[in-house]
Amino acid sequence: MSTAISPTAYNYKVVRQFAIMTVVWGILGMGLGVFIASQLVWPELNFGLPWTSFGRLRPLHTNLVIFAFGGCALFATSYYVVQRTCQTRLISDSLAAFTFWGWQAVIVGAIITLPLGYTTTKEYAELEWPIAILLAIVWVTYGLVFFGTIAKRKTKHIYVGNWFYGAFIVVTAMLHIVNHMSLPVSLFKSYSAYSGATDAMIQWWYGHNAVGFFLTTGFLGMMYYFVPKQAERPIYSYRLSIVHFWALITLYIWAGPHHLHYTALPDWAQSLGMAMSIILLAPSWGGMINGMMTLSGAWHKLRTDPILRFLVVSLAFYGMSTFEGPMMAIKTVNSLSHYTDWTIGHVHAGALGWVAMISIGAIYHMIPKLFGRAQMHSIGLINAHFWLATIGTVLYIASMWVNGITQGLMWRAINDDGTLTYSFVEALQASHPGFIVRALGGAFFASGMLLMAYNVYRTVRASDPVEAEAAAKIAVVGAH
Ligand code: HEM
Ligand code: HEM
Repeated sequence: MSTAISPTAYNYKVVRQFAIMTVVWGILGMGLGVFIASQLVWPELNFGLPWTSFGRLRPLHTNLVIFAFGGCALFATSYYVVQRTCQTRLISDSLAAFTFWGWQAVIVGAIITLPLGYTTTKEYAELEWPIAILLAIVWVTYGLVFFGTIAKRKTKHIYVGNWFYGAFIVVTAMLHIVNHMSLPVSLFKSYSAYSGATDAMIQWWYGHNAVGFFLTTGFLGMMYYFVPKQAERPIYSYRLSIVHFWALITLYIWAGPHHLHYTALPDWAQSLGMAMSIILLAPSWGGMINGMMTLSGAWHKLRTDPILRFLVVSLAFYGMSTFEGPMMAIKTVNSLSHYTDWTIGHVHAGALGWVAMISIGAIYHMIPKLFGRAQMHSIGLINAHFWLATIGTVLYIASMWVNGITQGLMWRAINDDGTLTYSFVEALQASHPGFIVRALGGAFFASGMLLMAYNVYRTVRASDPVEAEAAAKIAVVGAH
């Protein structure tokens, strides 16, 4: 329905910037993923240099895909969704611009410092204190812009997608600040304020909830807006979405100890983490079902709409990885899977299948609207991208399942006299074919991103700027 919103109502500039950078960082982060996957196949690719070694590039990969690619997708979509569902402009253009440039600065900081070997050594929280402080400032500003915009909304209620985005912003700030408490001893070296088992517990409380709130809750916010929009159907159950929200955020925060099974962490904490992880299956699947069922009566659209296919297949992978996760959290299963490639497969079922696919679908949905085009330059290329991404993900996770179970079984095999049946190197040799298939799957996925970049470029370039601005204004007036 059309409303009385003025044509310049929304700040699309910052959304466009974040959307474009999502594609750029996606290519770099995933390209680096393919490179480190290839290093595991051909170790010569380490080039014998510290800066190009697997150990330094691996955290750069995780930072680029999670914070640069995933983060920009979350910023872009949350700024888009909050404006459209609250029918109001972002509360401050300059603060929004600060979050864009500040976030890019954090990423550039990671690109420089991680290969040089500056790291806190805490996984997913590697960035040293000056960058971590900048990140905290940017994030708090993000919170001000997001919640400030909600506060001045023109609608009566707050759409559920914003609840998820809001929880992701608040909890990420809390996790980042608490886990980064440390004592700087020089410009690029600090020591954690915690020690021993407490340090490990805080790190995995952070690590798991980085998955739960950064890689899940934020993307569920995306799901609640873009799936109904693309399917042109209302969300299946609004009531379920509220139950989903409260159950998910209440449970996730307890599951961290499943990363520390069989360690010095007290046994009761490990068992609590395991129990909470198993219960977590329920809200996870509640959300997946809510998204999937939104397609009731619109399933036929999947035949012709590759954007919808990205969104729906991402939900399928979300369902799969949130079934696998609770299983891996069971201590006896974890005794086999921990330290093996099974974990890596699980990670990428979530990361490629869920996080990347839903982001790609959302970006394809937004780009034409942001740049005033009727649709993307080529639907055929989106279709090709979809198949490259799906085949790439399947190759990645299937090879890691085979590798993971092989490694787990070989490591635990013992002879009658109690000695190990296989040496570590034998298990590594057995993993080699799987490493090749994974690198191939990754290359499929990353090449799909190149198609996306070309398609986005043609869509953006093809639009005459004046015409685009006019079309964007019409789109704004017509929104909601
Ligand atoms: C082309 C796509 C990708 C390829 C080829 C790739 C490859 C890799 C490789 C080789 C590793 C190291 C595995 C090891 O240490 O044995 C890794 C780790 C990781 N990747 Fe990716 N990756 C890709 C995309 C992504 C994306 C999109 C995300 C997140 C959104 C992601 C998140 C991670 C995480 C969190 C880890 C660390 C896992 C752990 O420590 O258990 N990756 N990736
Ligand atoms: C109900 C949901 C989930 C549960 C209960 C769960 C559980 C687990 C468990 C038990 C591990 C292995 C810990 C270990 O042995 O070290 C793990 C690792 C991991 N999971 Fe999940 N998972 C869930 C969903 C997801 C999703 C949706 C994603 C990605 C978007 C994800 C990303 C990761 C990452 C990145 C790791 C590796 C952490 C590391 O060691 O570096 N998980 N998860």
